[in-house]
Amino acid sequence: MDGEATNPFLDDVLAGLSARRKAIPSRWLYDARGSQLFDEITELDEYYPTRTELKILTGQARDMANAIGPDAVIVEYGAGSLMKVRILLDALEAPRAFVPVDISSEHLEASANELRAFYPDLDIYPVASDFMASNLGASLPEGGRRRAGFFPGSTMGNLLDREIDRFLKTTREDLGDEACFIIGLDQPKSPDILIPAYDDAGGVTADFNLNLLERINRELEGSFDVSAFKHEARWNSEDSRIEMHLRSLKDQTVTVAGREFSFAEGETIHTENSRKIALDRFAGMAENAGWTLTRKWTDEDGLFAVVLLEAA
Ligand code: AVJ
Repeated sequence: MDGEATNPFLDDVLAGLSARRKAIPSRWLYDARGSQLFDEITELDEYYPTRTELKILTGQARDMANAIGPDAVIVEYGAGSLMKVRILLDALEAPRAFVPVDISSEHLEASANELRAFYPDLDIYPVASDFMASNLGASLPEGGRRRAGFFPGSTMGNLLDREIDRFLKTTREDLGDEACFIIGLDQPKSPDILIPAYDDAGGVTADFNLNLLERINRELEGSFDVSAFKHEARWNSEDSRIEMHLRSLKDQTVTVAGREFSFAEGETIHTENSRKIALDRFAGMAENAGWTLTRKWTDEDGLFAVVLLEAA
């Protein structure tokens, strides 16, 4: 890459470290190492969301499949490993096609091929795209009775209000007037449960967060001393979100791509928001974007919710 080429990771890191309150967008946590650490997080005792959502999907798949109906085109946003959608595909009556949308085209092709082996009769059209970046309407196959979006994993919680608004409006347009949308949403709950879920005793989440500094060192000629930063998970009750930060343990100066950034002892880089959006709040956001929240499925403790939106 020459000096003129754009590197969005570099742009985000330089802008984020120049800000008065340092912050780097959470999508940069997910390089190969970060994705592997996130997979490990999903297996932790303290991290309830993945296992709880899987339990809801497994237990309620028939009900969800009935609500979607036969001959549907399923569109999964930020598709990843395609494990969760199999629960839905197994329960659906004659799905017309499946469209996984994911930013990592390599990972996407591999997952799509794996899926093809299990569903030889299903048309699978992977779309390599950032689900937030653009309008996907033209990439979606025609036909079928309706389109059904699928957005599990509470990834909605990583988005800001204006991003959720834009995403729900774009998907409403792409999926059309007959559309429905199944969305997983982690729910507000006691910090006694939330904090350990984002700061586990084994330190896997700490490694996941600190890997961002290692990635900057690897890819952007960074000079971070990773041992001079500490992982922190905070519950911000006003904004109903878990925040991940990296706290500087001393006054220090770091260079990234030849530029210097100074840290005061105790200063942090804000690296992720994981919002816990209550259902009444989310119903309002959906309504504003042309959707109606018509169904909800939760676990018995109300830790996690899967909701159904219908095009209004
Ligand atoms: C993949 C964004 C849903 O917010 O719970 C897990 C990411 N960060 N532990 C979440 C994450 C720290 C996860 N999401």
